Amino acid sequence: MDALTLMRKGPVIPVIVVNDAAVAVDLAHALVAGGMTVLEVTLRTKAALAAMRRMRDELPDVIVGAGTLRTRPQMEAALDAGAQFCVSPGLTPELASAARSAGVPFIPGVATPSEAMHAQDEGFLVQKLFPAEAVGGVRLLQALAGPLPDLRFCPTGGIHAGNAAEYLAQPNVMAVGGSWLTPDDAIGTRDWARITRLAAEAAALAHG
Ligand code: 3PG
Repeated sequence: MDALTLMRKGPVIPVIVVNDAAVAVDLAHALVAGGMTVLEVTLRTKAALAAMRRMRDELPDVIVGAGTLRTRPQMEAALDAGAQFCVSPGLTPELASAARSAGVPFIPGVATPSEAMHAQDEGFLVQKLFPAEAVGGVRLLQALAGPLPDLRFCPTGGIHAGNAAEYLAQPNVMAVGGSWLTPDDAIGTRDWARITRLAAEAAALAHG
């Protein structure tokens, strides 16, 4: 699968921070029950790799990827845990080279035209606009569409139920990512019904 196909499968990608691998499978089931099919587990907790492994084992029909990758060893660990795609807040030479040999889609983070052009030079035409709201949001995406018509984006950072549809309506936006579907307090209290509700609302958002 290429990055574009992956994004289209979203088009909303829950960005998950898991502190306890024991809840990973229930959390994934709750998201899937609401219609999510692509999940991103951020590598910023100790539990992330184990959580990803459990999701892969228990939910074989769901696409599970790793986010917040900053180094080659992290990418290797994520692939070892079964990551089917990789996402980074940025792009380094080391990550670009690791991603080319990874054999799974890699979506680098960009925040400016120069970064987007650099990522394109490295062969990545689907990019994460990050942190989307802070760097200009929808207006930036509209401004990039003219000079950089080949690029497609998955904005993340500050996306929520109230602004996701406007992002998805942009022709150069393939998907959006965000943590609003998995609030910490809902995970903490194992309020899976609330997470399923949030996921179902998000699943109802379609491309404009
Ligand atoms: C991230 O990598 O943290 C994502 O962009 C999520 O951002 P959010 O918490 O603002 O949705």
